[in-house]
Amino acid sequence: MRQPLVAGNWKMHGSRVDNASLVRSLLDLLRPDGGAEVLVCPPFVYLWETGRLLKDSDVQLGCQSVSAEAQGAFTGEISAAMARDVGCRYAIVGHSERRHLYGEGDALVARKFVAAQSHGLVPVFCVGETLDERESSRTTEVVARQIDAVLAVTGAQAFARAIIAYEPVWAIGTGRNASPDQAQDVHAMIRTKLAALDGMIGESVRILYGGSVKAANARELFSMPDIDGGLVGGASLKADEFAQICAAAD
Ligand code: PGA
Repeated sequence: MRQPLVAGNWKMHGSRVDNASLVRSLLDLLRPDGGAEVLVCPPFVYLWETGRLLKDSDVQLGCQSVSAEAQGAFTGEISAAMARDVGCRYAIVGHSERRHLYGEGDALVARKFVAAQSHGLVPVFCVGETLDERESSRTTEVVARQIDAVLAVTGAQAFARAIIAYEPVWAIGTGRNASPDQAQDVHAMIRTKLAALDGMIGESVRILYGGSVKAANARELFSMPDIDGGLVGGASLKADEFAQICAAAD
């Protein structure tokens, strides 16, 4: 039995004032007995303060990226150890905005995955195809390649301490989510791929869907057998909407 997980990716949004009010409202709205694990990923500069606001709650803290390097002359970067030091439990790696806007390739994403795990963070490892790739029937090939790049470095065992997020690039921030069947097909492919290497890992790894998840479509998406929750962008900035999405995953 996999515990559902709903992760809010705030991206580059928020302010100290806005975050405080978002977190307070969210904590008021979340069901205390909710079965889903809930995670929020604020921008780096707000991690510590957001962690303080979440201190007496079950909501977890994650960051949106980490450096592949441990420390040193890497201006503008944040190490996994630093993220851990300010209270993070999770780190998103390989988000499509990092891949496509900042040129992060499969090999770098794999190194980030390793860096996160080696400092006690659980990677939320994102994969997904572009519209072009989907339309040319390359979804399976692309997602498999992204996963293989990590597997080549870590082996399947590392996925015992990782989350996978399937986020079709064409569905992110577009209002156009993958249909539950489209998402389920890719989730099942990912699970089968890992199960072929290690049956236990394939069965237990949590695979989130991301891309225009909202209160109106969450329940249907999360009801699919291989969808274990969501990675939520825009809708995680509205406390009531995000709380409804979390309730849909319970
Ligand atoms: P969205 O973003 O929910 O706004 O589509 C999802 C994500 O990028 O993680």
